[in-house]
Amino acid sequence: MGKDDIMTPDLNGRAAVITGSTSGIGHAIAAAMAASGARIMLNGIESRAEGEAVAERLAKVYSSDIRYTPADMADPEAASGLVEDTYAAFGRVDVLVNNAGIQYTAPIEEFPPEQWDRILAVMLTSSFHTTRTAVPRMRENAWGRIINISSAHGRVASPNKSAYVSAKHGLVGLTRVVALENAGNGITSNAICPGWVETPLIRPQIEALAERDGIDIEAAKVELVRHKQPSQRFVQPEQIGAMAVFLCSDAASQITGTELSVDGGWTAQ
Ligand SMILES: NC(=O)c1ccc[n+]([C@@H]2O[C@H](COP(=O)([O-])OP(=O)(O)OC[C@H]3O[C@@H](n4cnc5c(N)ncnc54)[C@H](O)[C@@H]3O)[C@@H](O)[C@H]2O)c1
Repeated sequence: MGKDDIMTPDLNGRAAVITGSTSGIGHAIAAAMAASGARIMLNGIESRAEGEAVAERLAKVYSSDIRYTPADMADPEAASGLVEDTYAAFGRVDVLVNNAGIQYTAPIEEFPPEQWDRILAVMLTSSFHTTRTAVPRMRENAWGRIINISSAHGRVASPNKSAYVSAKHGLVGLTRVVALENAGNGITSNAICPGWVETPLIRPQIEALAERDGIDIEAAKVELVRHKQPSQRFVQPEQIGAMAVFLCSDAASQITGTELSVDGGWTAQ
């Protein structure tokens, strides 16, 4: 890639694996990367048929090679296996996006230990397993991009989210360690920290707010965003997709070990 196209990410020939990419932010990242020419391995906990239907729709739009592997990121072997499946399918692994995520809210004294275990497993431990498997594959080509989808909750806390906030802070730590271990290898490791993004993940929180305050869903959305996000607007999944693609450009090759907030000012407060 020459100096003229430093800002134009060209992912032709690259292979990307994105955990939790059948919906929301992961799906938008897959679309943005496919639009830049990457071949994509989608992942989720949906059945093979459901996931392959998502892959087929994206492949048609972007004329790209898009596949799907069902794998539960709570299972370390499945997490590591997803990266190996990507290598088997495409002969390389250039981009790893650790995105799969779940939420559960309760005060700590009522927080079910099994929910703590699952949230940590899906969002933090899986990222350890995918990353340890992907790094040697990236080193084969002396190029790699590891993008961890953390959160504003990787930088600050909110009540009732002990597991989520701990997992997202932990992911920031993992991001930094992997960046240092691979500085000079052509591999970067960064975290994107979104604020409120309107996806199915936050629907239960919107519904709970609507019920608590006796307001409709649209009013609850406004209320949810108003409390934390000074921009007063949801982040769009496509904006996270564009940021992920930017991290794959030559312009971003010296950005490593950092957290990029896309949060409408949430963590500036
Ligand atoms: N929506 C927001 O406001 C927001 C804000 C900050 C960070 N995030 C983070 O962004 C990421 C994506 O969230 P989203 O809002 O797009 O959610 P979403 O519910 O729309 O999508 C979640 C995806 O993860 C997959 N998934 C869930 N459990 C899984 C498991 N055990 N194994 C594999 N895949 C699994 C689902 O199949 C789906 O594809 C999460 O890590 C989330 O914490 C979301």
